Amino acid sequence: MNVASRFHVFLTSCLAVFMVLSCENPNIKTEIGRENQLETEQNAQINLEGIALMYKYKCAICHGENGVSVMKNAPNLVTTEYNMEERVAIIMYGKGTMPPQKDVLDMPTIRGLAMYIDSLK
Ligand code: HEC
Repeated sequence: MNVASRFHVFLTSCLAVFMVLSCENPNIKTEIGRENQLETEQNAQINLEGIALMYKYKCAICHGENGVSVMKNAPNLVTTEYNMEERVAIIMYGKGTMPPQKDVLDMPTIRGLAMYIDSLK
């Protein structure tokens, strides 16, 4: 092979590589991005439903299904002034007659419950 035809082969391979690269569908990445986002939204949805159920099982007997207290001493959660961190602490360690949950529920659930209270307002 002489220098000219070697150069020709080189050019042709460059062109081939370029064509393969430019064939990659640019929409694929956005598609995957969109799917991931959808999945995250669905997970959040499922978790939120799980948390709502957990609230009904664990908290509603005292604080009421809608956060309006059904037990003497248990405060209305609809009007609670406690912020996220304080709620998390109270749910973890309990307070007064409220039972601690730190050995019963995992942290994501405890945080979820603390957040869920906002949705009752
Ligand atoms: C046995 C009844 C009972 C159960 C079950 C219960 N709590 Fe409570 N909760 C209380 C009482 C009583 C207080 C008030 C404690 C105090 O201030 O002495 C309280 C306080 C709170 C507070 C502070 C609100 C405020 O404004 O004072 C939050 C937040 C809270 N509970 C969330 C929850 C969550 C979430 C659950 C479910 C995991 C739960 N509680 C389960 C009785 C209960």
